[in-house]
Amino acid sequence: SQPLRLGIAGLGTVGTGVVKIVQQHAALLSARCGRPITISAVSARTRHKERGVDLSTYGWEDDPVALAKRDDVDVVVELMGGEDGPAKASTEAALHACKDVVTANKAMLAVHGQELAELAEANGCVLRYEAAVAGGIPVVKALTEGLAGNKVTRIMGVMNGTCNYILTRMEKAGLSYDEVFKEASDLGYLEADPTLDVGGIDAGHKLALLSAVAFGTKVNFDGVHLEGIDRITIEDINRASDMGFRVKLLGVAQMTGRGLVQRMTPCLVPKGSPLGRLERATNMVVIEGDSCGQIVLRGAGAGEGPTASAVMSDVIDIARGLRMPVFGQPATSLADAPAATSAAP
Ligand code: NAP
Ligand code: HSE
Repeated sequence: SQPLRLGIAGLGTVGTGVVKIVQQHAALLSARCGRPITISAVSARTRHKERGVDLSTYGWEDDPVALAKRDDVDVVVELMGGEDGPAKASTEAALHACKDVVTANKAMLAVHGQELAELAEANGCVLRYEAAVAGGIPVVKALTEGLAGNKVTRIMGVMNGTCNYILTRMEKAGLSYDEVFKEASDLGYLEADPTLDVGGIDAGHKLALLSAVAFGTKVNFDGVHLEGIDRITIEDINRASDMGFRVKLLGVAQMTGRGLVQRMTPCLVPKGSPLGRLERATNMVVIEGDSCGQIVLRGAGAGEGPTASAVMSDVIDIARGLRMPVFGQPATSLADAPAATSAAP
């Protein structure tokens, strides 16, 4: 049977993780998909860099757009990051060339997801992004497959591991925000632009994507009411703790009579609740559906293995011929997400 041939653009944390899975689980993937998954070519900024994986049998492209246009690439796996630039250019080039795209790029999708979904649809391609929301937790799949018979009533979650690490560490160690921020930075947790994490923007991107899937609306990142954790003090955390609560950067999306409410803000949650017990850089997504009730998903929201695992789940779907669009069908007829006039759900 014909292999599914990948072109991987970006060989950093996630890209090398994907290469490792394709190499180490070749037989298992082939058995599960009924066809082999192979890598034809890769691209990154620096060609001669030790990445801990053998890339010698793959083609190389300096330009990710050229990678996207190669005849021996069926699926472009975009793992460079960035809202625009080479990530968007190579995604568009792939879709124009009628190739499917898998990406972990929440920033690009939160801003351009709707237009890219429409482009994919116009060209008969699929655009998948399980890894863009909550890393290794298969939350997009939960909504589009396992819970597809439900009308979702609400989604909630802790979707930025760095913020959860900072907040739990402040409480456990009694350290100030600045002290723990430095610790998180030393541990390599923070995005290159830390405002994306502590300003709630990264988590807001994820909430906007998840809301679109859950409620079948266009992605509306501008409609997310955002507040970061950078003004939370150790006194706030101690006072909350005395009253039996923990502070979490919590995302909530709910369709109300006034429209779709999307909030990503620091909230008080009871210490004994699943969200209250969430430690370190872990993520948790709570989905409430009219038939299923409350479903709680917990796991690693970042890192090489978990994120590559999510990327591979999309690749495997494509290898199996599963071509349902994630945002809903057809993308061109999705409703605008009506932003509620007030942020309160
Ligand atoms: P990363 O470690 O910074 O790697 C980025 C890769 O892209 C590098 O290999 C880099 O090349 C390459 N690249 C950057 N600009 C390029 C250009 N102009 N042309 C060609 N290649 C270019 O990033 P990452 O952590 O793997 O993240 C990748 C994506 O996954 C991002 O969208 C991120 O938001 C998303 N994501 C990451 C995680 C995580 O845990 N890391 C979790 C969820 C989602 P060089 O190596 O040569 O510099
Ligand atoms: N900066 C993100 C986080 C990485 O801390 O959750 C994963 O998206």
